Amino acid sequence: MILSQDTIAQIQNRVEIEEVVADFVTLKRKGQNLWACCPFHNEKSPSFSVSPSKGIYKCFGCGKAGDAIQFIIDLEGLSYVEAMGYLAKKYGIEIKEEEQTDEALQQQHAKDSLIIALNYAKDYYKKILWEHEEGQAIGLSYFKERGFTDEVIQEFDLGYSLDIWDGFTSAALQAGYSEEILIKAGLTIAKADQAGDITGKYDRFRGRVIFPIHNITGKAIAFGARILKADKKQPKYVNSPETEVYHKSNVLYGIFQGRTAIRQTDNCFLVEGYTDVISMHLAGVANVVSSSGTSLTEEQIRIIGRYTKNITVLFDGDAAGLKASLRGIDMILEGGLNVLAVVFPEGEDPDSYARKLGNSGFQTFLKNNTQDFITFKTNLFAKESALSPAKKAESIREIILSISKIPDAIKRTFYVKQTSEELDIDQQLILSEINRILLERSRGQSRSGVVDEDKLLQDAIKESKSAERTSTDSIISIHEKECIRLLLQYGSVTNEEGVHFYESILAELGDIALITPVYAEVLAMFHQKLAEGVILDDDYLLRNGKDYIKKEVIDMISRYSLSLKWEEKYKIYVPKEAENIQEAIVKNMLHLKYYKVSKMLEDNSAELRKCEDIDDQIALLKMHLELEKSKREFGNQLGIVVNRKAAG
Ligand code: CTP
Ligand code: MN
Repeated sequence: MILSQDTIAQIQNRVEIEEVVADFVTLKRKGQNLWACCPFHNEKSPSFSVSPSKGIYKCFGCGKAGDAIQFIIDLEGLSYVEAMGYLAKKYGIEIKEEEQTDEALQQQHAKDSLIIALNYAKDYYKKILWEHEEGQAIGLSYFKERGFTDEVIQEFDLGYSLDIWDGFTSAALQAGYSEEILIKAGLTIAKADQAGDITGKYDRFRGRVIFPIHNITGKAIAFGARILKADKKQPKYVNSPETEVYHKSNVLYGIFQGRTAIRQTDNCFLVEGYTDVISMHLAGVANVVSSSGTSLTEEQIRIIGRYTKNITVLFDGDAAGLKASLRGIDMILEGGLNVLAVVFPEGEDPDSYARKLGNSGFQTFLKNNTQDFITFKTNLFAKESALSPAKKAESIREIILSISKIPDAIKRTFYVKQTSEELDIDQQLILSEINRILLERSRGQSRSGVVDEDKLLQDAIKESKSAERTSTDSIISIHEKECIRLLLQYGSVTNEEGVHFYESILAELGDIALITPVYAEVLAMFHQKLAEGVILDDDYLLRNGKDYIKKEVIDMISRYSLSLKWEEKYKIYVPKEAENIQEAIVKNMLHLKYYKVSKMLEDNSAELRKCEDIDDQIALLKMHLELEKSKREFGNQLGIVVNRKAAG
């Protein structure tokens, strides 16, 4: 398809970058720009910025940048024309095509022509299903038997392929599609003789019901075709091969139909196959995808991560399958997402069980049987654990390994606590085991030059091994230190818009008081100097500070890559580094607030235990709930799941 110049102009005039991006990530305004966690790479704090006035996006972490059209092209792996089509649909703009010459037809982008052929095939198979005698008698009645409604059959573009050799191929050739394209699209298979010359061709899908696999814009890019008769000699499913437009590892079945619900419910159910996805929709659960026969890939996890940070994996109830899927759980954790699990009773899968329980029964079942991965793994190994202490140790090790995969230190700490409570094991024991694993791993792959707060926290935990447990106070102190470090090292640096980073730090800090005396003192000095028009920095303190402050500053800055600091000092403007500062500030403040509130909660609980007066107790309880709420909010922003287990 060649878009008319008029259509292109209309789209370009109408498109607002922030509206386009907001369909994929949650944007937060800071200054003139909007910020989010980058949808192109994995990160925990936002370095992806959108400038509405300039109409562009830029990620200071991975470097991806461009306008709204480029964003869709990059994110969805679409061609220019497809991306324009997406935007036109979003804004309700009618697409007008340029008169197509033979030459222009030839020049069509290879991907576009494959997609056009694939969607012709989709429509063809649909037409056969609904209108052809064989389609109705065999395909449609099969779907009806499974309880699929007309509505859902339409929504998923289900179809049927006739039980003959070249029904589709001859129709497509007649409609003007070239043999080459049909073969490239994986729709037609060529027979070749020994010399490699094509001697004939036939349909890939024959006598099967068709499940089109859609890309994010709803275009068919591949097919899964299920056999209907019991034939041991034929595979149950015939799937499209990898093509220029279909890479199995980065496609999720159901993402087009489910993405709005996934974003709205902030959760994505993960099931095994096509029919499970559709059955869930029928049961009123639309936030569901399947990795379609392959095991889950990192890429697929990243795609889900654009819509939600929570994945709930649904497991058929057989133990062998369960253990085989543990790798998937660890991969999700490694990807920085939260993972929950639901296990179905023996012999049931989402499809069969949804039909058995009915919609509301099924939904209630999901709600009441959602477990976090620790409970899930504990239960999985429970039978064996009861048999021998060695088995129990193994199951604990399994859980600890999973926790060690979580990139965020705070989240890890949270799960360590939970594991300690659930399995009645000393927290410190779990922590030191995790530290050991992390240490081993970091020896294998030492990273350098990056400000890594997780590492800092780990180091600090290791250092404080003399204490029986890591107290909240000491964690707060670590984050206060980081706050002061950022203030001293980068306060005088300005961001893209010419604003000093100290302004953002002080604004974030608000009236939060620092509890560590030396940091509180430095902060007070900073304010005092600021009143005199001077931005206090590490250099000044190294020259003029009291001894104990000097020592503190040296300790602070020597922990970090000096090159980063030097780049700032010599005003070598490296946008990527400068933006890491904003990211570091936001992350640091969230951590600080999270632990401050945790501390207040602890203090409040202590008060409550001592308190005897009923009115005071009620006041303290109210306070407790308030604090819980803000802790949850900060936790959410950090991506920590707080007590999801109790939700059911
Ligand atoms: N699958 C496949 N090729 C096969 C078997 C299975 O690609 N030969 C994939 C399909 O994506 C399928 C999923 O694995 O949907 C789960 O397999 P299964 O449960 O056997 O198929 P269902 O689609 O659930 O079909 P049904 O419930 O009708 O048996
Ligand atoms: Mn099944």
